[in-house]
Amino acid sequence: LSREKFPKGFVFGTAASAYQVEGMALKDGRGPSIWDAFIRIPGEIKNNATAAVTVDEYHRYKEDVNIMKKMNFDAYRFSISWSRIFPEGSGKVNWKGVAYYNRLIDYMIQQGITPYANLYHYDLPEALEQRYNGLLSKNVVADYANYAEFCFKTFGDRVKNWFTFNEPRVVASLGYDDGIFAPARCTNCAAGGNSATEPYIVAHNLILSHAAAVKIYRDKYQATQRGRIGILLDFVWYEPLTNSTADEAAAERSRDFHLGWFLYPITYGEYPTSMQEIVKERLPVFTPEEIKMVKGSIDYVGINQYTAYYMYDPHIPNQKPTRYQLDWNAGFAFERNGVPIGPRAYSQWLYIVPWGMYKAVTYVKEKYSNPTIILSENGMDDPGNLTLPAGLHDTTRLNYYKSYLSELKRAIDDGATVIGYFAWSLLDNFEWKLGYTSRFGIVYVDFKTLKRYPKMSAYWFRDILKRKN
Ligand code: GCO
Repeated sequence: LSREKFPKGFVFGTAASAYQVEGMALKDGRGPSIWDAFIRIPGEIKNNATAAVTVDEYHRYKEDVNIMKKMNFDAYRFSISWSRIFPEGSGKVNWKGVAYYNRLIDYMIQQGITPYANLYHYDLPEALEQRYNGLLSKNVVADYANYAEFCFKTFGDRVKNWFTFNEPRVVASLGYDDGIFAPARCTNCAAGGNSATEPYIVAHNLILSHAAAVKIYRDKYQATQRGRIGILLDFVWYEPLTNSTADEAAAERSRDFHLGWFLYPITYGEYPTSMQEIVKERLPVFTPEEIKMVKGSIDYVGINQYTAYYMYDPHIPNQKPTRYQLDWNAGFAFERNGVPIGPRAYSQWLYIVPWGMYKAVTYVKEKYSNPTIILSENGMDDPGNLTLPAGLHDTTRLNYYKSYLSELKRAIDDGATVIGYFAWSLLDNFEWKLGYTSRFGIVYVDFKTLKRYPKMSAYWFRDILKRKN
């Protein structure tokens, strides 16, 4: 494998998000986000860890950009923290926050690392949660659009690659169905949510917010700034457990509920038929006006791809007793005839299944009329208690990247339009519920000293990405 095997101009980078790497969570004027509220609940995060410091990229961004450069990466996918720019969600600007992103962006450009900026990675300003229930309210559309426009205006002279939201499916389902992510509504509905409707309402508001921001970008900024804008969607490959028609239908329903929930309206202007039929009146409806805004509202789509599961019909009701998941009417399996779908990484959800990459990307090409794709996340984790130097000998990760990239290349050779690839992540960092007990980096971070140590996989990238002339 080498850079030359990929199409001309193909971009290689690493991805991260503000809350997971910046630190300075409540400093230099940043307002709290819903994650700052969530992590304060004892027991929600492993070892009650916080992101107050995490890997301190806020101060160490130069060092991190230097590592990217040393490893021959072309780009960095980072996210902007809404509440660092607007501590109250709207209104007063925190200029120290603006200055931070200016420093980061300027330094990246100076070092030849292209910025890919994502405007939202789970971190809704807590003020908006308090003011109107955050993403459950249509009010969020105008506030988000205003924040997005501020970013286009302020950073768009240098940022030419934008994403509106990261993994809206995770936001809607983990935040409002099983309640394991902020704002943690509806852990079996004990938190007072209603997972029969809330995930769908939230997803709808996310889609409308995305579309509103894209419209502003296209109407007012794109012609002069000459950038591109899209959305980041996570996609697990769902393989039918058997070749029965029922299992194939269950797998396809699952793909609809997972990816189609967002990509279908964005491509075709409505929710997938399977969702309309099952969710019925609980599924919001787009007005003709909204359809106009939503349909076609991407220049590219980011696909975050890590893993694959078998799916079967029918669902076993008590496997996962949440309402939205029940709507899928499909069950998960991690093995077939006693054979696991792949070895497991550290995270419980992450099975190593390289062929899932090929199938996922090819499926997006075929079902969604060959969109321009950025493979915007891919990676695996080791346990957090790995120490030095053992933590640097990450042969499993190296092989993971090698095999997944080969499968991605095969999908490209078979006609998928993929223009870039981002590894998750450059550094070990704050892994949400798991805190610091999971390490996704190609660079090891000693969480006590915050020193960075490249792992073998980082040097592997350096070698395959080296330009031949
Ligand atoms: C995302 C992901 C990341 C995770 C990564 C490993 O939303 O893009 O959740 O933030 O850290 O996927 O789990």
